[in-house]
Amino acid sequence: MSEILVAKNINKIYDEGNIRTQVLTGLDLTVNAGERIAIVGTSGSGKSTLLHLLGGLDVPTSGEVWLHGKCLNNMNETERGEMRNKHLGFIYQFHHLLPEFTAIENVAMPLLLRKEVPIKEARQQAVDLLERVGLGHRLEHRPGELSGGERQRVAIARALVTKPSLVLADEPTGNLDYDNAQSIFGLLAELQDTMKTALLMVTHDRSLAAMADRQMLLKNGKWENFDD
Ligand SMILES: Nc1ncnc2c1ncn2[C@@H]1O[C@H](COP(=O)(O)OP(=O)(O)O)[C@@H](O)[C@H]1O
Ligand SMILES: [Mg+2]
Repeated sequence: MSEILVAKNINKIYDEGNIRTQVLTGLDLTVNAGERIAIVGTSGSGKSTLLHLLGGLDVPTSGEVWLHGKCLNNMNETERGEMRNKHLGFIYQFHHLLPEFTAIENVAMPLLLRKEVPIKEARQQAVDLLERVGLGHRLEHRPGELSGGERQRVAIARALVTKPSLVLADEPTGNLDYDNAQSIFGLLAELQDTMKTALLMVTHDRSLAAMADRQMLLKNGKWENFDD
């Protein structure tokens, strides 16, 4: 099985003035192609910090993050940004969509940033994906004109439009009611299977976590046995 992402002995210490906070301690993690992994843990256990490091949005204090055989640590911001844009998709608890743009424009944005396809083609791919997430009737709506569940569907389409090999999702259903959370997770899983994307998802919800291939529990910045 091919390894998409490998983290080795990750430590993260926030050092602000005379306050040092060790948030992550000696974490290892491997994500294989197409795999569905759930990370659970109480608030403050370091889940978001870990996803930031894995996604190259921040660097660990020590330890290494490898994405597609390349070590992110030794790259500058621009190179890390390119790796992110090429291989990763992100979904957050709060959709982070651009409020002044329509659903199509939000989804097409990552493709336009890549400058690989003309605008018309990018918009068509955005439309195709929005139809697949059940929003064919909301293409021209802006985020403020959509429900919470619909906004997360747009965010999913945006994360997948570049066909990333790994999607990092930080509590993607955390802001939704139970039924919406279930259907969003189901949609993610289905798209993941057809697009052969790996998914690393942080969730509070153990019933959602149970539907992943593998569950990991983060406690005070360390892996613990999930079944405890
Ligand atoms: N920029 C920062 N500076 C100092 N401490 C931080 C910073 N970001 C997060 N922390 C601390 O790191 C810990 C883990 O935060 P976080 O990764 O957001 O946890 P989770 O996502 O599991 O709720 C918290 O105690 C938080 O206060
Ligand atoms: Mg968090």
